[in-house]
Amino acid sequence: MTDVHRLITALLILLFSTCDSAQETPAEFLARFQREARPMHNKVAEANWALQTNITVENEEVFVKARLEYAKFSQMQERQALLYLQNTTINLTPDERRQLTKIADIGTSAQTDVVKLERFAKIKTNMDSIYSKAEVCVEENCLQLEPGLTELFRTSRDCERLSTAWQGWRDQSGRKIKDLYAEYVQLGNEAIQILGYKDMGEYWKSAYDTPTFEKDVAKLFEQILPLYKQLHAYVRRRLKAVYGAHIFPSSGHIPAHILGNMWSQSWNNVGNLIKPFKSKQSVDVTDEMKAQGYTPKSMFETAEAFFYSLGFANMTKTFWKKSMLEKPTDRNVVCHASAWDMEKEDDFRIKMCTRVNHEDLMTVHHEMGHVQYYMEYKDQPTVYQGGANPGFHEAVGDTIALSVQTPEHLKTLDLMHAENIYDEETDINYLMQMALDKLAFLPFGYLIDQWRWSVFRGTTKPESYNEAWWDLRCRLQGISPPVKRGPEDFDPGAKFHVPGDTPYIRYFVSFVIQFQFYKAACDAAGNTRPLHHCDFYNNPTAGHKLRSMLQLGSSKPWPDALEQITGQRQMDAQPLMEYFQPLLQFLEKENGNDYGWTENCPENPPPCSNTAQRWRVRYTTAFLVLFVSLKSTCFLVPRT
Ligand SMILES: *[C@@H]1O[C@H](CO)[C@@H](O)[C@H](O)[C@H]1NC(C)=O
Ligand SMILES: *[C@@H]1O[C@H](CO)[C@@H](O)[C@H](O)[C@H]1NC(C)=O
Ligand SMILES: *[C@@H]1O[C@H](CO)[C@@H](O)[C@H](O)[C@H]1NC(C)=O
Ligand SMILES: *[C@@H]1O[C@H](CO)[C@@H](O)[C@H](O)[C@H]1NC(C)=O
Ligand SMILES: [Zn+2]
Repeated sequence: MTDVHRLITALLILLFSTCDSAQETPAEFLARFQREARPMHNKVAEANWALQTNITVENEEVFVKARLEYAKFSQMQERQALLYLQNTTINLTPDERRQLTKIADIGTSAQTDVVKLERFAKIKTNMDSIYSKAEVCVEENCLQLEPGLTELFRTSRDCERLSTAWQGWRDQSGRKIKDLYAEYVQLGNEAIQILGYKDMGEYWKSAYDTPTFEKDVAKLFEQILPLYKQLHAYVRRRLKAVYGAHIFPSSGHIPAHILGNMWSQSWNNVGNLIKPFKSKQSVDVTDEMKAQGYTPKSMFETAEAFFYSLGFANMTKTFWKKSMLEKPTDRNVVCHASAWDMEKEDDFRIKMCTRVNHEDLMTVHHEMGHVQYYMEYKDQPTVYQGGANPGFHEAVGDTIALSVQTPEHLKTLDLMHAENIYDEETDINYLMQMALDKLAFLPFGYLIDQWRWSVFRGTTKPESYNEAWWDLRCRLQGISPPVKRGPEDFDPGAKFHVPGDTPYIRYFVSFVIQFQFYKAACDAAGNTRPLHHCDFYNNPTAGHKLRSMLQLGSSKPWPDALEQITGQRQMDAQPLMEYFQPLLQFLEKENGNDYGWTENCPENPPPCSNTAQRWRVRYTTAFLVLFVSLKSTCFLVPRT
């Protein structure tokens, strides 16, 4: 931008801030914001959608341009909002104050240096695109993350192949993102400091609007940890029986590549390997879905019908027309599932590379939960069209999915045929399957932002990015890398949300509060069965309870919203503990004293095959023999 441009922009801003705000009352300004912000948001969302469903250089350029325009708009609104907020002679109602504060909260759009602003936007699209296009060749086949690698991790039990895929994915994604990431951290911090925050981590945490937030989540984590340790121990023992103990380090960690998931973040795909009671039915309904001819579309209709039974609205016409429910074959897309509020009439969408299986059926409910939230709060002012906090938004669909997954409901859907779903062994099978999804996730959900907060704070520097990452993975999650890692690796970058610039602690929060929501909905439905058997399908009273909370959007502080549904103002792991109580008793009995792991990562990851070990032993022996015999011949040769 030339100096003339800068001058003109400055004059324009001055013009706006002096003449407009002098004439406009806060109420008028807010009304105008309401009119102008939605089309702006819509424009960015359209450009973003076009890019994410069709990654091309042109679409990247269009999106970056839209982002820059949007940043300019936001800066102008922010300045005006601040004028009202800081002017002590103006009386503001509490609601006006809340709205203005939200308008002034423009995040990294606060960067006024256009060159830096543009660079920041470009880095982010670059990282996304590297991640989304990454491809790994395993033996003959070159696979993308979705569906290829995901499917490999879901089904393969071949240690060697899994290990190759695990490392290959990290070579092709994280490693190529590392330098960009360091620059992203620097530019992001610089931008957010303009708003007066110390760093991006502090800014992200401000979304929860509770000064004790970091301590609060740490406390929740401590509360859950004993239960996780029991699950970890059981899974470890059962997987040792499958793969052989020789691939497990003596430190007690589980190698990260054999848990059925690229990041070992949820373990439901090893459910059939570690099912406690083999003769009793499990609740993974993948086979049944395939046999019954489910399609991605019918999975979305199944979810829609559940929401509808609670009194929620059906998906809109535009939803069915514009969503991307399957992976296209003719272009690169960002496969990571997401839900979209286009901020225009009935335009809500989901983008997902859906596969017909149990896990994706639950993801469909998760994403549709976001859309339901959008639709419930659509009559709020634009600034309040958001979750009470980010964790709330993630929890809605999951709460519904907890009910959908009960054996009771799966029977209603004709996806399960167990005669006696209250049989004790069937019950433990079911809770185990749920634990592999929900409990296994908690340390992972907790640690990603532990890592990022420390990176943003500057405590963790680029040269120790990966080491700090594995410190957390080993210490909190009890898993270890299957192959040696070094400082040039960047394993956090191999997880979507890190290059994707999306905070993660929301998922940890969600996995805790969704049990609070679930229990509240079950109470409203008059449930008398144990919590994990509660299905509130077709119960409008439960639906009403949920909806009235969603309708608040972010117009009230989140403890108010939480209180509205649960009668409680705090995040609380108690409902989750109640849900898994029978499983905990089973695990404690099974595990005895065999649980836990050392804090530090193991020195050397054990290799997959015994053969490698055998050969090493052979080579070493041969070498020693040779050495000794040479050494002894030495004695025979006279020294000179
Ligand atoms: C993908 O984007 C390009 C522009 O870069 C456009 O020409 C093409 O038609 C788009 N493809 C689809 C299927 O939308
Ligand atoms: C504060 O608001 C009043 C009333 O709108 C206005 O006259 C005054 O100029 C404002 N003060 C500042 C410092 O902007
Ligand atoms: C603001 O409120 C104070 C006290 O409530 C009142 O005296 C004053 O007249 C109000 N000012 C305006 C501009 O409404
Ligand atoms: C909503 O969808 C359900 C099935 O998913 C259908 O039975 C119902 O008629 C639809 N309702 C409206 C108002 O469109
Ligand atoms: Zn989500």
